[in-house]
Amino acid sequence: MGSIVCSKVSQGHIIENKALSKDFYLMKVDLGVGAGAPIRPGRFFMLRSWGTEPVLSRPISVFDADGATVSFLYKVVGRGTKLFSGLKPGDAITCDGPHGNGFPDNPAGDAAGVSAHDGTAGESGGGTTGDCGGDTTGDAAGVSAHDGKAGESGGGTTGDCAWDTTGDCTGDCAGDTTAKHIGRTKIAMVGGGVGIAPFYLACKVYRGLYPDMRLDVYLGFSDEGILIKEYMDVADKVTVNVGGFVTDDVDAAQYDAILTCGPEIMMRVLYQKYLASGSGAQFHVSMENRMACGIGACLVCTCKNKSGNKKACKDGPVFPGHEVFGFA
Ligand SMILES: Cc1cc2nc3c(=O)[nH]c(=O)nc-3n(C[C@H](O)[C@H](O)[C@H](O)COP(=O)(O)OP(=O)(O)OC[C@H]3O[C@@H](n4cnc5c(N)ncnc54)[C@H](O)[C@@H]3O)c2cc1C
Ligand code: FES
Repeated sequence: MGSIVCSKVSQGHIIENKALSKDFYLMKVDLGVGAGAPIRPGRFFMLRSWGTEPVLSRPISVFDADGATVSFLYKVVGRGTKLFSGLKPGDAITCDGPHGNGFPDNPAGDAAGVSAHDGTAGESGGGTTGDCGGDTTGDAAGVSAHDGKAGESGGGTTGDCAWDTTGDCTGDCAGDTTAKHIGRTKIAMVGGGVGIAPFYLACKVYRGLYPDMRLDVYLGFSDEGILIKEYMDVADKVTVNVGGFVTDDVDAAQYDAILTCGPEIMMRVLYQKYLASGSGAQFHVSMENRMACGIGACLVCTCKNKSGNKKACKDGPVFPGHEVFGFA
């Protein structure tokens, strides 16, 4: 039996459509009613603000969502996005979605928000299992215990507790998984150009789900940075690279999960770097292939995966890194 594709088409209205730079715009839309399905980071809407021409709606990721208000960050590259850029408050826009799978609710697997390791060498390795936290009896003991000096507690093997940002270690917190020295699962979100879009909502959602999770955002731009303050408001650390390679800034070995979205070459380089680092992180990649229907019916967005061809719109756009980059 074939699968049934459900989506919800909302007749939305523009609340605001603001130019952020020469090509980038942030558009806030009132859907009128709630979306057709939960809006998780990495999901997208098929948008159109015209009648019959152009024929196809355009896929745009959710930048932010709050009730019936959804925001989109877009770059003007052609006819459709040019039409979006001319929209004024009150204008109508058809929003079909949200579509796709989005980034996982728990990007680091079992480690999310519970791991007590600090990610330094000699510890329990990447924290992808989340089972080293506060182990005072087993293998982790002796490596996770800090040395009792204020502000430089954990690590054991390196003497630098990456997590004690407060400097108020009392010297007796070894193995304490409930208090100040609990390890924080570390997530890197690496975006290039409009590929930064999903990570604003991702930060907000992950912060809500896992208050202890460390959220590092890497923003790569070719000529001008945008929305930096906004990302600083929701992330623990924001690294901005203008005109260079944002992948150079990421130390993959530090993280329990790496999420990326942007030009395919950027994501592929990041994946190679991650492999070379020996990182045990989960790696999630968002593939923004060209799309037509956006709901799994036309095969335009077919994406070659290790386990066979997949539809980026329906099976993705988020895939495990090894599925899209882990083969020749
Ligand atoms: C799942 C998904 C999420 C996306 N999220 C965003 C987003 O948040 N913000 C944003 O600005 N863009 C996003 N895109 C890309 C966006 O859909 C395209 O830039 C847009 O459809 C181009 O439409 P256009 O009519 O302006 O350009 P067109 O006239 O159709 O094309 C102009 C140029 O854009 C290129 N282009 C067309 N489609 C894509 C595509 N899918 N990816 C990359 N380049 C493309 C073409 O190769 C061409 O060079 C996303 C794409 C996908 C598949
Ligand atoms: S865009 Fe039609 S199947 Fe994906």
